Amino acid sequence: MNILFCDNPFDNKTVDLDYQDEFTAATHNGFKTHLFSFENLTQDKNAEFATRKIKKSDSLQKIIYRGWMLKPHQYSLLYNVLSTKNYKLVNSPTEYQNCHYLPDSYKFISGHTPKTIWLTVGNQQVNYEQVFSEIATFGDSPLIVKDFVKSQKHYWDTACFIPSATEKEKVKSVVGKFVELQNTDLNEGLVIREFIELNDLTIHSKSGMPLKQEYRLFFLNGQLLACYDYWEEGEYFADDHPPLVSFKKIAKNIESNFFSMDIAKTKNGDWIIIELGDGQVAGLPDKVDRLQFYDLVRQNYGS
Ligand SMILES: Nc1ncnc2c1ncn2[C@@H]1O[C@H](COP(=O)(O)OP(=O)(O)O)[C@@H](O)[C@H]1O
Ligand SMILES: [Mg+2]
Repeated sequence: MNILFCDNPFDNKTVDLDYQDEFTAATHNGFKTHLFSFENLTQDKNAEFATRKIKKSDSLQKIIYRGWMLKPHQYSLLYNVLSTKNYKLVNSPTEYQNCHYLPDSYKFISGHTPKTIWLTVGNQQVNYEQVFSEIATFGDSPLIVKDFVKSQKHYWDTACFIPSATEKEKVKSVVGKFVELQNTDLNEGLVIREFIELNDLTIHSKSGMPLKQEYRLFFLNGQLLACYDYWEEGEYFADDHPPLVSFKKIAKNIESNFFSMDIAKTKNGDWIIIELGDGQVAGLPDKVDRLQFYDLVRQNYGS
């Protein structure tokens, strides 16, 4: 049983400080831990050098990565170099992209998530005529904007939420601000989704973003590991549990061995999926007991 973490860029014999607690929890649960250099992989594009500390295994072994998000082509580099060392990442590059890019996830969840469209954007140059024509399908609904991976949710009013799809000036300013904030980190293009009123929890104490009744589920090898409260702040309702049986059913058709599923309760009382994520790069909410999480990963690791 193997877990791969990023090393500390200032001391590559130790784990990245942000993953110290997960590293310790994995070790306590009997996992063999491995380190690689995220910077050598992503900035220098040198996968060989990035993984130089990992020796070739005598037999083929499974390995799970836990760390920072990788772009699909970076994940492929990591996947391939580990293969040459006889380590097989839990998800193939295609399985990784299935949950990392919303346009790739959409086919698995479209009946259970807000209506979504997307368009690619090159050189941060948005074709607004194309945006206006694509969003006509939403009528005058409110929208949210993100890229294929992330939103700027902490800039809710200026770079995420659009009150009406027909307000062209507002569409332009929110999309423009979003693209400006993403800068060169813009992932592939724009994703635009119908906004659905979610059940309130509280207002984020720092950014002022409205926090809603949301949960993060993790699935490993077809099994639900856990359902965690998504936000640290706000009172979750102890007697209002998500309908996990129906989400488990949806999960069965998602082509990935390890993924997260973010779900929310709407103001109407429906339960919807917000997004999927690859389980290797999805953050654990702060309150989650790391020892318990790695115990669950151990129990469902498979052979
Ligand atoms: N379609 C939607 N309708 C209403 N609220 C949404 C919608 N999509 C996202 N949100 C809210 O915005 C937050 C950020 O959106 P999300 O797609 O999860 O972006 P990120 O990848 O940055 O986390 C979600 O946690 C949720 O509260
Ligand atoms: Mg999210």
